[in-house]
Amino acid sequence: RLGDERVLEYDKLLLALGSKVRKLPVPGAELAGIYYLRSVADVLQIRADLTPGRRLVIVGGGYIGLEVAAIAITLGLQVTVIEAMDRLMARVVSPMVSDFYRARHQAAGVRVLHNTALTSFAGDDRVATVNTSTGEALPCDLVIVGIGVQPETGLAERAGLACDNGIQVDEFTRTAIPHVFAAGDCTNHPNSILGRRVRLESVQNAADQGKAAALNMLGHTHAYSQLPWFWSDQYDVKMQIAGIANGDEEQVLRGNPADASFAVFYVANGQVTAVEAVNRPRAFMAGKKLIGSAARLDPAHLADSTQPLAELAQQALANAT
Ligand code: APR
Repeated sequence: RLGDERVLEYDKLLLALGSKVRKLPVPGAELAGIYYLRSVADVLQIRADLTPGRRLVIVGGGYIGLEVAAIAITLGLQVTVIEAMDRLMARVVSPMVSDFYRARHQAAGVRVLHNTALTSFAGDDRVATVNTSTGEALPCDLVIVGIGVQPETGLAERAGLACDNGIQVDEFTRTAIPHVFAAGDCTNHPNSILGRRVRLESVQNAADQGKAAALNMLGHTHAYSQLPWFWSDQYDVKMQIAGIANGDEEQVLRGNPADASFAVFYVANGQVTAVEAVNRPRAFMAGKKLIGSAARLDPAHLADSTQPLAELAQQALANAT
């Protein structure tokens, strides 16, 4: 049933609802000049307000906050990032990568405040000050908030579907209601490579799970099983991530962050579970091949940049079969 009371019949139904931005329920949240970034309309509004010389406060040092910070400082704005955790992008990267990005942003002139949350906005009709949990009152001309997303599950919940950090689907993208499927950011699904259920916020998952859902809706039996991967572009730095770490792996550094080209491999019992590659596409490619395979490597060899990575990976994969 649609909002205008029209009723459409279906044979197969796909929920591709995505996610919605987390909002900040603080005093002053309704003031003009405070933006969230999700849609093209958001981008157009923000772009019109990014005038050189203006003071921009960014709330959240994650993907959105840092990608915006890199662009805004390059355009000539004064940029401050406030991040609640003790390091940047803590949700998705290792401390070594967080440290690299803090240094890169600071070198560009961005002020980075850690362990700092936002308590309120102040201003007459437009935001003029951001008050922080550390007692600072930051003067500003505009604010961009990037404090994460939540899966869009409202419709599914009203339909009686099980939702727990996303709409629950099986490996064939099926919900518990016959003929109703779901794909993308809004789902919580099993991943056979990771060996657990996940909810993913990524282009890769949106595209690949969407294709799997299409096949299944057409009557095929197509299990969705893809290695998750992610990327972020900030300044001239391209980060590529493959896999998702459990948290108990050894973190093996290859290359030198000071050269702005390095990778962090997550290794457990000689097996690679994830890689974060910073301006290091070959490490990303090697990681993609190794993760989910039975290949085992000596972490000391991975850390040794004089040992060609492609050969190491090939050897390990050959030994595993
Ligand atoms: N004050 C300051 N920082 C906060 C607060 C707060 N009140 N609440 C959360 N944060 C920080 C988190 O610690 C985290 O570092 O905001 C950051 C949010 O980062 P992400 O989870 O990466 O979310 P975001 O940057 O908003 O990106 C949203 O867009 O591009 C996609 O894949 C990306 O799925 C992600 C989505």
